[in-house]
Amino acid sequence: MIGAIVLSIICVIILIVIGSLLYGFITVPYVPTPQHILKEIEKLNLIHDNQTIVELGSGDASFLRYFARRNVIKAYGYEISPPLVLLSTILAKLPKYKGSIHIQWKSYYDADIVNADIIYTYLLPKALRSLIPLFSQMKEGAQIISYDFRIPGYEPQQTIQIGKTKKLYIYIPSAWHSET
Ligand SMILES: C[S@@+](CC[C@H](N)C(=O)[O-])C[C@H]1O[C@@H](n2cnc3c(N)ncnc32)[C@H](O)[C@@H]1O
Repeated sequence: MIGAIVLSIICVIILIVIGSLLYGFITVPYVPTPQHILKEIEKLNLIHDNQTIVELGSGDASFLRYFARRNVIKAYGYEISPPLVLLSTILAKLPKYKGSIHIQWKSYYDADIVNADIIYTYLLPKALRSLIPLFSQMKEGAQIISYDFRIPGYEPQQTIQIGKTKKLYIYIPSAWHSET
């Protein structure tokens, strides 16, 4: 009897993990931002001490960890895939980050972004389009850094070419109201 209950619990956990993995994979597969792109973002000098940065679909939180090591910031990651949440949570606990990184096992649609100064995304256009209502809640002057993909329907304030094929797009959603 106890064996059957334990087996059922294990099966449910496995189904939740596989389901979450598949969900993340179907919507936006996990592909980490390369380190040299993070260095390019650093050169833009957009991220400063005492800012709040948010990574939507944070994967292993490489963006948050890169800047938490360099700046005194509050860093929040939202990730749907349990293994990546576990990995990034463990990495974020390293002493060098001084407790500044907070990873949440939550869909990015439920992210709290109202205090964000910077949102970082490496997401497909379909996901970016579906996040426009969330972006519209960002505070005055807050910026989105989108790696590799544009937000459909909106002109970036700045486009940075990296090498021959890669781009960073910078958006300021508070400027959108005057554009539309
Ligand atoms: C292309 S990866 C980028 C990972 C990380 N931001 C980076 O740049 O290294 C996209 C991530 O979004 C996650 N993801 C997909 N759908 C999601 C959702 N609805 N909510 C939160 N994360 C999601 C995937 O699991 C994956 O880790």
